[in-house]
Amino acid sequence: MRNGGICMAGDFIITGGRPLSGTVRIPAAKNSVLPLLAATILCSGPVRLRNVPPLADVNTSLRLLRGAGGAACRQGGDVLVERAPTTCRLDAEAAAQMRASILFCAPLLARLGRAETVLPGGCRIGARPVDLHLSGLKALGAQCREEGERLILTAPSGLRGADITLRFPSVGATETLLLAAATAQGSTTLRGAAREPEIADLAAFLCRCGASIRGAGTSTIRVEGRRTLAGCTFAPMADRIVASTYACACAAAGGRVELTGCAPATYAPLLEILAQMGCSVECGPETAVISRFGALHGVGKVFTGVYPALATDAAPLLAAAMLTARSESSIEDVIFERRFVCAEGFAAFGGRVETAGRTLHIAPARRLSAAEVRAPDLRGGAALVIAALAAEGTSRVRETGFIDRGYADFARKLGQLGAQITREMRPVREKRKKHLQKTNFDLQSGPKDDTIQLYKCSKRNSAHCAVLR
Ligand code: EPZ
Repeated sequence: MRNGGICMAGDFIITGGRPLSGTVRIPAAKNSVLPLLAATILCSGPVRLRNVPPLADVNTSLRLLRGAGGAACRQGGDVLVERAPTTCRLDAEAAAQMRASILFCAPLLARLGRAETVLPGGCRIGARPVDLHLSGLKALGAQCREEGERLILTAPSGLRGADITLRFPSVGATETLLLAAATAQGSTTLRGAAREPEIADLAAFLCRCGASIRGAGTSTIRVEGRRTLAGCTFAPMADRIVASTYACACAAAGGRVELTGCAPATYAPLLEILAQMGCSVECGPETAVISRFGALHGVGKVFTGVYPALATDAAPLLAAAMLTARSESSIEDVIFERRFVCAEGFAAFGGRVETAGRTLHIAPARRLSAAEVRAPDLRGGAALVIAALAAEGTSRVRETGFIDRGYADFARKLGQLGAQITREMRPVREKRKKHLQKTNFDLQSGPKDDTIQLYKCSKRNSAHCAVLR
């Protein structure tokens, strides 16, 4: 977490073996809020998003909007975007921090005719190319140029509606193309679109601003381009993955937890599998009560998939709950090829796990013991916290910055449910960045590692390289 130039790193210290009990109100969904913040670029008037959780990725999104000349701030629990960006270049360091930065390109392109960014960062759960985003934008009249890590999009004669078919129902590509088509000239039909609820949320926001979109939430979406979109006030949908996280935490630690403010239908496959494992699951329209007092058992082979199948983001969370089941399970993530990097952490707790390609095999482990582990990514980090809640003894989960990207007040909320969890902050002074005159630098990438090498000297007379950590 950034706080006055000091990057606050911290570890979660968790003493497991305690059942959970209580109620959690599920916050707005990160994966809806981020595309909505990108969508504000299209709006001619102010936008207020209600009850936006204080997530690191939301802060990064506000940096992107402000860095491009927009005016965006937090106001109580809301986010207020009062002015859309006026320049087309996205802050490279912020854009490199999250996958969702790619979503800011289409609206910049639609509004200003140009967008410049670096290839997005985010959880390293797979290759995560952006070819579907770019091919769809080209179909709408955009020109795309990649120079190393640098991405430049132009639309000299504006964006024009088209008939586009996605070869894969990519969530991000569907969002990019909705954002591009909303103010394009003419009609767009998007076939093979993603059906995730976050897509329907984005469409609902755009329609409230005056867009004409039909079929969002199905695999065929039709858009009639509108010249301008107004602003609006909008409450993003609840976070079905955060709800899944607390449900799996209850399954792993035992006890009884009520989740409110999130429709169980948006994470039904997860709840169904927890019931098959031996949890009691009682659902209302906007609530789910999960309880587990006896032993858990395995459920054999489980697959993730595109919505409405089991969400890929829920796979590591469910795996953590399966570690202490009395019989075997396996989960194959058909979406991302590196979803189970957290398996190493599961093994450190005594989990009997093995990965084979995209599949995690989980054999019964009599019990889990405390360990010191490192969050590899956002959902893998949350899954390691869940495992620590079920482990006997006191564990340490490092790299909690990954978890802050998608969970607000995670330790506080788990503590309110009875977990013994604290956060040990270790103020880490950021290495002073060599601020350079950036006029004569080209963005190129070095080998991908933890240090994002944003600027490499071009052959011209640039004298420095800036390596930002
Ligand atoms: C979104 O990522 C979510 N992120 C992810 O949540 C989520 O796991 C994913 O959708 C799937 O539901 C946000 O919404 C910010 P995709 P996205 O495009 O858009 C391939 C979390 O933890 N693909 O549906 O990147 C891609 O490599 C995050 O909150 C291409 O090949 O997902 C992957 O294998 C993690 N070319 C598959 O499609 C492209 O141009 C699904 O990716 C785009 C994607």
